[in-house]
Amino acid sequence: MSHLEIPGISAKWVIGFFGLFHISVAAMAIGMAFIVAVLEIYAYRNKIRRYDLFAKRTQLFHVCIYNIGTINAIGLVFALSGLYPQFWSQIFVHFFWPLIIEEFLFFLLATTLTFHYFFWEHLWGHKKLHITLGVLLIPLFFLQMYIINGLGGFMLTPGFKEGEVSLFKGILGYDFKAMYNPSFLMLQLHRALANISYAGFCLAGWCGIRLYLTDDAKKRDYYEDCGRIAYYIAFAFFLSIPIIGYFYSHVMMKEASQAFWDLMLGRGDILVLGIDTWWLKHFLVAAMLGSSLVYFHRIDKTNVPFSLPKVMVWSIALFYLMFYMAMGMVMTWLFFWLMFIAAIISALISLFLLHSNKNSARALFILLGVISFLTVMLGGYAREASRPRFVDRVSAYDNIYVPEERSPYLMVPVKPGDIPIVKQETTKEAQLIHDRCVDCHTLDVIRDYKDDDWDEVIKTMINYGTELTEDEAKLITEYLKAGKPF
Ligand code: HEC
Repeated sequence: MSHLEIPGISAKWVIGFFGLFHISVAAMAIGMAFIVAVLEIYAYRNKIRRYDLFAKRTQLFHVCIYNIGTINAIGLVFALSGLYPQFWSQIFVHFFWPLIIEEFLFFLLATTLTFHYFFWEHLWGHKKLHITLGVLLIPLFFLQMYIINGLGGFMLTPGFKEGEVSLFKGILGYDFKAMYNPSFLMLQLHRALANISYAGFCLAGWCGIRLYLTDDAKKRDYYEDCGRIAYYIAFAFFLSIPIIGYFYSHVMMKEASQAFWDLMLGRGDILVLGIDTWWLKHFLVAAMLGSSLVYFHRIDKTNVPFSLPKVMVWSIALFYLMFYMAMGMVMTWLFFWLMFIAAIISALISLFLLHSNKNSARALFILLGVISFLTVMLGGYAREASRPRFVDRVSAYDNIYVPEERSPYLMVPVKPGDIPIVKQETTKEAQLIHDRCVDCHTLDVIRDYKDDDWDEVIKTMINYGTELTEDEAKLITEYLKAGKPF
């Protein structure tokens, strides 16, 4: 057995549940840190008291979800430790020190965030100090996401496929090649923008609910306006997501081809009850785009504070159009047309909703809040479900990290005795190759090289900056010419 099972529920779904729950809350918390700071600064500079009030209420909400998210994260750690004991031992080999920093950040964030909310009124005379504290939360939150994305990216694209190679260039517990893996940057950018967007749409959704619950004209005006500002912030962060999305899929195509094709073709766990979660997610994103364009078109005619420049709105539409066309070209035009139809349908629905509510956006706010929640869930799910499962990869690392005396107790996903635990003999040359040739590409590049002009190759690599003495270069060249393994 490679892991425990909870009767009736597969361990995989237990982790999936915790993971998705965590994403739904943590992503919103990160986005809210940004939105609260923007609102508070905007309110202060333009002396609009209602935005300050809205920022404060949002911060209370933020404190609550931050608590829920953190406690859920502990649940996830427990579940992983119990159900897949190999997981953390493997992850700690690469990420122990970053995770210690992560833990410290949790502490710092919980205290600062709570303080920021509860001292809102007390620090009224020191508004700039209060704003600074709020702004400080943004980099702290983003640093927390940054570290976790190192792990997240690593599970999708271990990049330097051989664990041993990766570790050669790090220290035990901090493996920077694993951290800065091929999809790290794309995941980072994608999440940074999408989290803010998601939090904004959810806040607008909350205003929508309040609009249904109150008859008071002043309050309605308040929620309509605050919902709008949250909506605009959310929509503004839609801007470059399609560009990032496109390059993200490009990185995946090269570095995580199985995950890429599973996503594109809807294979394996991407299909849930026959529904392709990745396509559905994109369908919903296109719907959000259609609705947002309609909303902007309708509302921006009135003279409102805090608006988005028109050119930005049209750029968003244009970027999405380009994204869908690009995906149409590399994948299938069906994708393009389906997204087009989704955007049109949702635009029509939105027109109807605005009209039937006498231009109140309450129904639209709620609809968009729900859809953005669903896109985050579906996107988070599809991302993790598409990749080869981490636990299946872990066994490939077993011989590398487990001290010899513990080898007999290894948990590998096969019957005992199936895998003889061999200690690989490495030659000096192989060691050199592992050591010096992995800075710029994986060993696979070398293994896949078909010609045998190794003199030339090594010379070129030295010109590129590979550190090799003449003797070492000679050794490696001879070794590679002889076609020996490494
Ligand atoms: C400083 C960065 C760097 C290091 C270190 C490095 N390479 Fe490369 N290597 C490159 C780049 C860039 C390319 C792709 C460009 C090219 O094909 O010329 C490449 C490509 C290759 C290729 C494929 C060439 C082809 O034409 O397909 C081989 C084989 C190769 N490297 C072998 C090695 C070996 C062996 C070492 C260790 C001695 C090494 N590399 C170390 C940068 C490096």
